[in-house]
Amino acid sequence: MTTLDTPITGQDLPWHLRENRAPVNDEVTLTELEVRGSIPADLKGRYLRNGANPQTGQSEHWFLGDGMIHGIELADGKANWYRNRYVRTPMFANPGVERMDLYLNPETIQFNFEVGVANTHVIGHAGRIFALEEGSFPYELNCNLDTVGVHTFDGKLTTAMTAHPKICPETGELLFFGYSSLPPYLTYHRVSAAGELLQSTEITVGGPTMMHDFTVSRDHSVFFDLPAIFDMELAMSGGMPIRWSDEYPARMGVMPREGSDADVQWFDVDPCYMFHSLNAHDEGDETVIRGCRINEIWRESADIGDPDSATAEDMPKMWEWRLNRATGAVSESQLDDRPSEFPQVPDAYVGLASRYGYSMSTTLDGDAGEIFKYDLDNGAARTSHRYPRGQTPGEARFVAAEKGASEDDGYLMTFVHDENTNTSHLSILDASDVAAEPLAEVHLPRRVPAGFHGSWIAD
Ligand SMILES: [Fe+2]
Repeated sequence: MTTLDTPITGQDLPWHLRENRAPVNDEVTLTELEVRGSIPADLKGRYLRNGANPQTGQSEHWFLGDGMIHGIELADGKANWYRNRYVRTPMFANPGVERMDLYLNPETIQFNFEVGVANTHVIGHAGRIFALEEGSFPYELNCNLDTVGVHTFDGKLTTAMTAHPKICPETGELLFFGYSSLPPYLTYHRVSAAGELLQSTEITVGGPTMMHDFTVSRDHSVFFDLPAIFDMELAMSGGMPIRWSDEYPARMGVMPREGSDADVQWFDVDPCYMFHSLNAHDEGDETVIRGCRINEIWRESADIGDPDSATAEDMPKMWEWRLNRATGAVSESQLDDRPSEFPQVPDAYVGLASRYGYSMSTTLDGDAGEIFKYDLDNGAARTSHRYPRGQTPGEARFVAAEKGASEDDGYLMTFVHDENTNTSHLSILDASDVAAEPLAEVHLPRRVPAGFHGSWIAD
């Protein structure tokens, strides 16, 4: 019998719909959750994680399924509930409809940024929770994961919003950009700590590229203008309209955080793609950027294919770029030869020199299941938490301890899928001792499909 929690394993299905990437098809609220170990008492809030969960069971690409948020509320050492909820978008309301039919107005040749799947990230800012996907406006949720509706910052936001905004730990500002395959190709936005959109600045780039992430230092915002370009032919055939270009130059643009298009200083870098930056910081004249670099992506099409056949060469690895704003010089170096993704630093170190960074192993030799911790002050020395065979974590979110005394005084949270039981649990690691046994596990009687990004939303 196939139940909704049984992953579909048919080899005729594309990779992104097989095994624990298959969607679940219901929404539940579960209480009385089994806890192993002890949940730190200073964790009061909700761990939320977004991912693609196509309502119809089908999607053209891993990145295109309807957004579903999975959340667990923790308080007083207890796990109060697990919930999973679809984000109510126009795509959710019209299952099976081609996105372009809703997204593009053929009369005006403009996009309707209310149309999206809100499937990539979920963040908190200025008392609101947003589900994000880079092609559309943010969708606001309440803390029970119900959809409030689209959010446009009082109508001031006129572009899509990246799923990877940055929140400045010093000013509380929400810094982000929107990119589009139609002009303006790139627009930078700055929102106050109170949630008011203060700045929207068009940035000149050479064409429409897929710009998944950017990064900020204390004084600068940095754009990644990389050769993954929009392709009209692919767009007309459905699916992801992005492919690699050998002609489009790879550049990083450094701009003062309150600057303008004319202030952007562009640096040519070796061709590459980077879905996710770890962080950036300024060191004198240099802006130092770290992130998970891929040699290239999607040469023929955006078909991810079967990553089980990918080689280590194809996989993202932690790199560093040093951009000298005084001389224009660029130096690039690989920090680690082990593939990993979903990099991050503590919220309090966004834009600042951080000693530690975290990421998830993407080794595809059947031995996956590791969370990495890098000591960036010591040659990016790597330690890791290795889960038992058959257990696969996702992105590990760093959550600072309430009275944290040091940068790594906190927790790493991730949903782990166990292929032996076909169930998932929330794993809570001690970030100061990642190799140790998890501090706690919150077990669910069902699985949480593999997904993308999450946040801890403290009470
Ligand atoms: Fe992402």
